[in-house]
Amino acid sequence: MPDSRAVGVFDSGVGGLTVLHECLVTMPNEDFVYLGDHARLPYGPRTRDEVRRFAHEIGVYLERQGVKMVVVACNTATSVALPDLQEQLAVPVVSVIVPEAHAAVQVTRNRSIGLLATELTVASGRYEQLVRTLDAGARLTAVACPKLVPLIEAGDTFSDEVTEAVREYADPLKAAGCDTVILGCTHYPLLRPVFQRAFGRDVTLVFSADETAREVAVTLARKGFENDASREGAYRFLTTGEPDAFRELGERFLQLPLANVEHVEVRELEAVA
Ligand code: DGL
Repeated sequence: MPDSRAVGVFDSGVGGLTVLHECLVTMPNEDFVYLGDHARLPYGPRTRDEVRRFAHEIGVYLERQGVKMVVVACNTATSVALPDLQEQLAVPVVSVIVPEAHAAVQVTRNRSIGLLATELTVASGRYEQLVRTLDAGARLTAVACPKLVPLIEAGDTFSDEVTEAVREYADPLKAAGCDTVILGCTHYPLLRPVFQRAFGRDVTLVFSADETAREVAVTLARKGFENDASREGAYRFLTTGEPDAFRELGERFLQLPLANVEHVEVRELEAVA
């Protein structure tokens, strides 16, 4: 029996659309509902407890919408809230971070790995733990990039300010001799060419959108949660911010039509949890 429930995906803003894009092309037969928590963005400078609470509210909200799985398309929420969320929700929770740490350890030749992420993700130490678990001899150099999410959310991907910020954040990783750099925030793949130019061709950039989409597909298949393979799936969007602004920016980042955006009040999220 095909399972017609949708897959829920969330992020603080448009960054998770990089993950949703891969999900939509990997599983064109599945339905998706994406929630962007624009009213409370950015998550990076917030406290652990705040981000845990937001992730809990959104996870429960999506579960009440009847989703069959929740995808945490936000490294910051994953780094501080994943175990709690997995305990709190009845549906399976798939997230970013683990696939990236895995890929980085596999790719690096000199075992010097760089991480670019939000302040909270860096402070959580989650990537260090994972990298050390996979290869205790690998070294991780982490740099917090507080300027990037607000610039990307303002639609600013090619300004001098972005190029300068990327250069500033790349410098310590170049000085540390990293041959592999994790783009540890789902917003950052939107700046991939700017990063690649700053690091040069010899540095491999790792991000997890396609790996995460593959994990979603395999998990649905193994649990017997797949929808009918011959149908075309639908997808829709929820934002705690402005639907028009989300639609305009989101389409550029999703690279697919983004028609259906509804507004959700933050208090509706707070009320379910
Ligand atoms: N896309 C989120 C992440 O992956 C951005 C967090 C933020 O809002 O600062 O961490």
